[in-house]
Parts: sequence; structure tokens; C-alpha cells
Amino acid sequence: MDIRTYLDERRRLVEDRLADLMLEPIGAFAQHIEAMRYSLFAGGKRIRPVLCLAGAEAADSGEQTWRRALPVACALECIHTYSLIHDDLPAMDDDDLRRGKPTNHTVFGEAAAILAGDGLLTFAFDLLSGKASAALPDPTRIRIIQTIARAAGPLGMVGGQSLDMIHQGQRIEYEELRLLHRSKTGALITASVACGAMVAGAGEEQEAALRAYGDHIGLAFQIVDDLLDVEATTADLGKSAGSDSKSGKVTYPSLFGVATSRTMAREAVHEAVAALDRFDRQADPLRALAHYIVDRKK
Ligand code: IPE
Ligand code: IPE
Ligand code: MG
Ligand code: MG
Ligand code: MG
Repeated sequence: MDIRTYLDERRRLVEDRLADLMLEPIGAFAQHIEAMRYSLFAGGKRIRPVLCLAGAEAADSGEQTWRRALPVACALECIHTYSLIHDDLPAMDDDDLRRGKPTNHTVFGEAAAILAGDGLLTFAFDLLSGKASAALPDPTRIRIIQTIARAAGPLGMVGGQSLDMIHQGQRIEYEELRLLHRSKTGALITASVACGAMVAGAGEEQEAALRAYGDHIGLAFQIVDDLLDVEATTADLGKSAGSDSKSGKVTYPSLFGVATSRTMAREAVHEAVAALDRFDRQADPLRALAHYIVDRKK
């Protein structure tokens, strides 16, 4: 299958739905909403929402139920964008370029950027629990909300970001670094695929296999992010290359070197694809996305 075409089509669906669902910058809160929209509509690969749709497609019973995953996919992108705004703050990675544009806090100021992140995070749960997702059965919605809250929260992304900050400038063991990557980045990626599966009504075994796939590509995604920080240019990335070494982050390349890290990312992708063994052609987008994640240039 042609992953470029697939990505383009799915991204467009996500962009269109996001444009529909996102608050308009009017009224008393216009300035705040403008700051949220600035980062949300700054581009971005939209990989988490696309994984959510592809997860639903893999488990789809044939009635295009995957389309019902769109509001969930949009909520995931809101949470991811919030994490980027906060990740770039002076108190965190202190970066001034994101998605090819000045970072949120350099444009709107620190307080407004913190609040834009808070706004996107909480708005995501409005999308998941409110009218936008009303077509999903309530038990499914509750499981999705719980899955995303867990993945984004203290034992997932936020916990991982906290480990990332605590260990800055230190040398840590492999096991710890793997946990850091799995939580700060892997957790939300696994949740994206798993929530897609839930929308499509996947059975227990199917969902477990899709979660395993997500765990492997989630780890691969952050290893490649670390590699790109070393190997790619700021112009290609749309964010500052070399940011990790400047701030003394523990990364795969800092622990294992570039070549071994690349091999580890490839191995994770192989394991991800192997986890899809029992799926038919409907999981081809997930297979292609796994390869895209390790081959990407930004
Ligand atoms: C960057 O995520 C932050 C990480 C978790 C590695 P992406 O590489 O998905 O960033 P965008 O959404 O394309 O900007
Ligand atoms: C960020 O990891 C992970 C999250 C935003 C949760 P990085 O700090 O490596 O992400 P980039 O490289 O700034 O995009
Ligand atoms: Mg960071
Ligand atoms: Mg960063
Ligand atoms: Mg990075």
C-alpha cells in the first residue's frame, strides 16, 4: 500500500474534523482560544490521530466504523499539542521553534502558553465526553476516557516528562531510559491505537495485540525522535536540532550511539509488525505506519 496517500487522506479527515470541533476565537476568551489554535493548527504529522483511525480500521467489522473514531482522534491531537506547548516552556526544554513556527510561549508569553496547554488538555475531555462523541456507546466512551486519562497522566506521559526532567544531566540505566521513553511518548501512542480498536468493537485478544503493536512503535517513535535530534537539521525538523545534547537529556543515542539506536528502533518496528500476525489486510495501514515511523525524516 502507498503510505503517503494513506497519510495524506487520513490527515485531511483529521484536519477537517479538528477545524469543525475546535472553539472559534471569538467572545470573552478569544485571546486564549487564539493561543490554543496557534499550536493546534501549526501543522504536525498527526500521527496519533492517524494511528487511532488505523487501529479502528484494523478491527473494523466492515461497516466503516473507523470513521466514528474521528472525534477521539481529534481529542488525542489536542492532548499531544498541549504536551508540546508545555514541553517547549523555559522551565522544561526551553525551545523556541515548533512545527516550523516560533513556540507558543515566545509568541503569547509564558502564562498564556501554560494556559493554552491547559485549555487543550481539558477541551480534549470535553470532546470525548460531550456531543462530539455522542455516537459512541457510553460504556465504550468511558473506557476510552479512562484509557486516555491514564496514558496522558501521572503514570503515563506526564510521569514520563517528569522522569525526563529529573534525569536531565544524569547518566541512567537502560531499563530506566526505556521506561522514560515508553511513558513520555509510548503511552499516548499505545492509547491512540487501543482507542481506535475500542471504537471498532475489537475483542479482547485483538485489543491486546493492537496494544502490543502500540507499545513497540511507541518506543521506536521516541528512539527515532532522539536520533533525528542528532542527525537532522532544524529546517527539516521544524524544531531545533541538537536540543537534547544542549540540555543534557538522556537519550538512546547518548547511551548507545547512533548506529545501535537505529538498530534498536528497527527491532522494535519488527516486533510491532509481528504483533499484528493474526490480522489480515485491514491492518496493512498499521504495518505501513510502523515502517514510516522508523524511516521518517522529521
Ligand atoms: C514530538 O511529537 C514529540 C514527541 C513525543 C516525540 P511529533 O513528532 O509527533 O510532533 P508533531 O505532532 O509532528 O509536531
Ligand atoms: C517530548 O519529548 C515528549 C512529549 C512532548 C510528551 P521531546 O522533548 O524529545 O520532544 P521534542 O523533541 O521536543 O519534540
Ligand atoms: Mg522534552
Ligand atoms: Mg522537547
Ligand atoms: Mg525530542
